[in-house]
Amino acid sequence: MSLSLVQSTLLGDNSSLFESIANNLVDKGYSISVDALPENLTTLLLQQINELPDEIFKRAGIGRAKDHVINDAIRTDEICWITGNSEASGAWIKWAESLQYYLNKHLFLGLFSFESHFSHYGKGDFYKQHRDAFKGEGNRVLSVVVYLNQDWSLDDGGELIIYPEQAVDSGIIADNKITVTPSAGTIVVFLSEEFPHEVLPALRDRYAIAGWFRLNTSIANNIDPPS
Ligand code: OGA
Ligand code: MN
Repeated sequence: MSLSLVQSTLLGDNSSLFESIANNLVDKGYSISVDALPENLTTLLLQQINELPDEIFKRAGIGRAKDHVINDAIRTDEICWITGNSEASGAWIKWAESLQYYLNKHLFLGLFSFESHFSHYGKGDFYKQHRDAFKGEGNRVLSVVVYLNQDWSLDDGGELIIYPEQAVDSGIIADNKITVTPSAGTIVVFLSEEFPHEVLPALRDRYAIAGWFRLNTSIANNIDPPS
């Protein structure tokens, strides 16, 4: 993979970040890195979020393709799929591809493609507990979320809660949920099938990017579309 000088300057040196994400994934299946997205990229994405017109965001649904429905009891956020047609979104996709390349090289994950969207939670919006993929069904392997909120305070709600599954035979009943504050620059990566998670109601506008690395499960003329 070769990056132009401009791109590599923009994206910075991610090798220690990617190494820590890979190690975390091996150790526990998820990774949380605070203030970790390259600064230039965060700045560009924050600008882009400020410039995006509200109308471009559409109510997010649940389920894929023909099973796709809007369900106010489960999620109330709005999303805008990222196509890479701006400097910021192009740089974001490049960054995600470099993470994909690193993880494939070091963990042999076989990640094949990447899809992502901006999300906007207005005041009161939430996403109830869910998984991003189901065993044997989806081809989403790895979820990545980055946050784009400056000066997020504990009173602003909107935390991501991750529920690691307890080992059934461990005999330990522990309330080990993980709480992530959606502050600009924080990166969360987790195995899509393994971790139920939810977004608590946001008490002010909350912006993030959610993305998924997928395996290649297209067969012949049956191309598996993004949801
Ligand atoms: C999702 C999701 C988490 C977040 O979009 O599937 O779980 O913190 N997002 O925004
Ligand atoms: Mn999710």
